[in-house]
Amino acid sequence: MDGAGRHGAGPDDPGTEPGTGSARLVRRKTVLRAALAATAAIPVALAGGPALARTAAASGKAPELTPSCDDGDHPTPEQIEGPYFKPNSPQRTSLREPGMPGTPLTVSGYVFGRACLPVAGVLLDFWQADANGAYDNTGFRLRGHQFTDSRGAFALTTVVPGLYPGRTRHLHVKAQAPGRPVLTTQLYFPDEPRNNTDTIFDARLLMTVRDAGGGREAAFDFVLDVAQDPGPGPGPSPSPSGTWAVGTAYRAGDRVTYAGRAYVCLQAHTAQPGWEPPAVPALWRAA
Ligand SMILES: [Fe+2]
Repeated sequence: MDGAGRHGAGPDDPGTEPGTGSARLVRRKTVLRAALAATAAIPVALAGGPALARTAAASGKAPELTPSCDDGDHPTPEQIEGPYFKPNSPQRTSLREPGMPGTPLTVSGYVFGRACLPVAGVLLDFWQADANGAYDNTGFRLRGHQFTDSRGAFALTTVVPGLYPGRTRHLHVKAQAPGRPVLTTQLYFPDEPRNNTDTIFDARLLMTVRDAGGGREAAFDFVLDVAQDPGPGPGPSPSPSGTWAVGTAYRAGDRVTYAGRAYVCLQAHTAQPGWEPPAVPALWRAA
């Protein structure tokens, strides 16, 4: 047994993070993902993208999904780096290599700031054990970094990491928005027996994972401690204006009145029932 690339038993000392899960955070992640899925089905809302998370919840159409993504707290929790991070990983979205053993895994998601708006250009640096639980500490196998796209999205292709003594199954990742501090954390898999005994494990860092096409598809959305102001957009537009009306295509900067109050559109969308300006702060701001 070479052991060179493996953790010993429990090398990732516990202690920096409480092990308790946060139903609130898990639910927020669920809300975001549900809203993103809904957004994809509404072409006119594409420009709004992930920020429509609040729209769906605030519209009253999904009252069970209490929105909290704009509450200005609780970014993705930090976790310890562990002993096997290496700087200067190659930029790549796929860590899989020909002949590499292991179950294919994709991890995709978005990076949001504290106002629940996507953050582009976020550096995501992943590293992990191979299918046998070993880290490559001489080269860069199963290590790589990438950047979120203009919609704050990322996608990683890799293999399911193996288990090694003392830990449950996990991925390591560092996330850094442009000009912001680095968030170091780990991502976990649901329904892993060792989740119950790994003292570092944090349920707030669980990915959603499903079987797909002989592999596994995982999703996770990061929330970074990045202050965000939705702002008025590119500037006021002369039209349309007047009283807010269902079916009208609004652009960022458009001004309307609703119930006697003036509002400025924050992002392009076509008005729908339930998206009245006071109900959807992601779309309208009081003027
Ligand atoms: Fe590890």
